[in-house]
Amino acid sequence: MPHLSVAAPVPARPLARKARFWDRIAHRYAADPIADLPGYEATLRRVQGLLSPDQAVLEIGCGTGSTALRLAPHTRRLHATDISAEMIAIARHKLAAQPLPMLGFAVADAEVPDFGEAQWDTVLAFNLLHLVDDLDRAIGVAVRALRPGGLFLSKTACLSEMNPLVPWLALPLMRAIGKAPQVLCFDAAHLQAALVRQGLQIEAVERHGTKGQDIRVFIVARKPPA
Ligand SMILES: C[S@@+](CC[C@H](N)C(=O)[O-])C[C@H]1O[C@@H](n2cnc3c(N)ncnc32)[C@H](O)[C@@H]1O
Repeated sequence: MPHLSVAAPVPARPLARKARFWDRIAHRYAADPIADLPGYEATLRRVQGLLSPDQAVLEIGCGTGSTALRLAPHTRRLHATDISAEMIAIARHKLAAQPLPMLGFAVADAEVPDFGEAQWDTVLAFNLLHLVDDLDRAIGVAVRALRPGGLFLSKTACLSEMNPLVPWLALPLMRAIGKAPQVLCFDAAHLQAALVRQGLQIEAVERHGTKGQDIRVFIVARKPPA
């Protein structure tokens, strides 16, 4: 299982290969209920409090767009992206049923610097950073896209905080039979260190879960003003 990379960047897999697992499970993912609804709502309230109607917001790894649909009305513009064309197709279908002029969906790899430079007031990454090939590269792309003073908001599973049998035995076995994606295994301290390495200032580190131990850390980080 890949560890957090620091010095040597991990070679990027082609987009189609990275997207394969997510394309396959997209419809099941869309149908799955949210495991901890009060925790999810707490995160949404927290994020809403950091957004404003004048902000241009980029979401990376948006999945089927549920969060983007909730947050877009609190922004001027929300550009929500995901590597999986199937996820984006479902998101667009939901948007057609609930049109929001400020929301758009697009297929994009969060590890490729195609989001412009210093363009976004806020970048959102929910349940994504443990799934990229190279943590520093993905954060670096987001930082480049953020305007100076902009916010990077992430909620990320810290798999190192689980019973070690899960990340080191169960997940690799599930991956071998196509039931789990490739994951990075790190704890909240490693994640914070990677954010700082990429030039962000950590403003808050929180856990919003309401069901026992919560391995998903919510972080507010700011790109320093110019
Ligand atoms: C666990 S789902 C989370 C979806 C959504 N953010 C949520 O919280 O429900 C992870 C999502 O990240 C996407 N993803 C994985 N690797 C990605 C990458 N390199 N770039 C963009 N999206 C990626 C997957 O396609 C999937 O939709």
